[in-house]
Amino acid sequence: MEMKEIKLEDLDTKNFVKEKVSEISAAVGDALAINALSGGVDSSAVTMLGHKALGNRLRTYFIENGLMREGEPKRIVRLFGELGVPVEVVDAQKEFFGALKGITDPEEKREAITRVFYKDVFSQLVRKSGAKYLLQGTNYTDVEETVAGIKRQHNILKQLGIDTEEQYGYKVIEPLIQLRKSAIREVAKALGLPEEIYQRPPFPGPALAARVIGEVTPDRVEIVRRATRIVEQELSRTGAFQYLAILHEDRVTGIRDGKRDYGLQIEVRCWESKDAKVGWPTRLAYDVLEKLSDRITGEIEGVVSVTYSITKKPPSTIEAI
Ligand code: XMP
Repeated sequence: MEMKEIKLEDLDTKNFVKEKVSEISAAVGDALAINALSGGVDSSAVTMLGHKALGNRLRTYFIENGLMREGEPKRIVRLFGELGVPVEVVDAQKEFFGALKGITDPEEKREAITRVFYKDVFSQLVRKSGAKYLLQGTNYTDVEETVAGIKRQHNILKQLGIDTEEQYGYKVIEPLIQLRKSAIREVAKALGLPEEIYQRPPFPGPALAARVIGEVTPDRVEIVRRATRIVEQELSRTGAFQYLAILHEDRVTGIRDGKRDYGLQIEVRCWESKDAKVGWPTRLAYDVLEKLSDRITGEIEGVVSVTYSITKKPPSTIEAI
């Protein structure tokens, strides 16, 4: 990789913010820029940097792709509203579910999501707003994993030979590309974001689609969304790096009300990690695991099996697809 990592111990957050703000101002000039805010630490930090640099020449959108966690759009719009950053919600659920229809291969799913984001949704927003630039929160680990051929991260374009200006009509600015997650948290804190944002566990760009094995349909996303809510409620106090629920494609025989129920399987993962590069499963207490199983099978109709992954990364990855 040609660009160099800025390690947490070498990061001077104040200087970094100052430098990036002036780089963004210089690059955008008098033009307009857009950015998509998901509420994760990376896109939140970029939103604040862009807002500092450009003020109302930055248009911030929350893309409602139908793949986000419960209540997210409202929560994020409210939170940034309180910080003086207006956020417009764009409903793109039809486009995303349309592109994901019938696809089961993990890399094809990731590619479909990238295509809808950059080609359909952003190109349209750029045309509508007259913006020439897209600001986004690509980080060092995203580039590394995509270049290594492990996973195509949703936000990697240039490194895959995509010329966004030629193909989509806008340039991409990536102020966080030299930082890993722990350094981005420090920058987010320095930018005045609240703790609930700068300490938020990571959440992938492809959102809950990264946690559905097999076809991603609105119904299947809804199952994983409900399981995610339970997992987050039960595991947030562990302080783990990341915790998630995955919906499997295979069914297994279960029993419900004395009858055979050929039902769904949910896998829970809870990770200890510093930078998502390597990870270990958290040694959860058995009563915590038991409560997860009771709640997931009791509250989500059709689920008859809950498993906990005990595999490290590598050879596992953090998400399922
Ligand atoms: P994996 O699954 O590759 O995940 O071990 C490493 C970290 O990155 C997050 N992740 C993504 N983040 N776009 C992102 O912005 C993506 O396409 C993506 N895929 C995974 C994942 O949640 C974990 O923290």
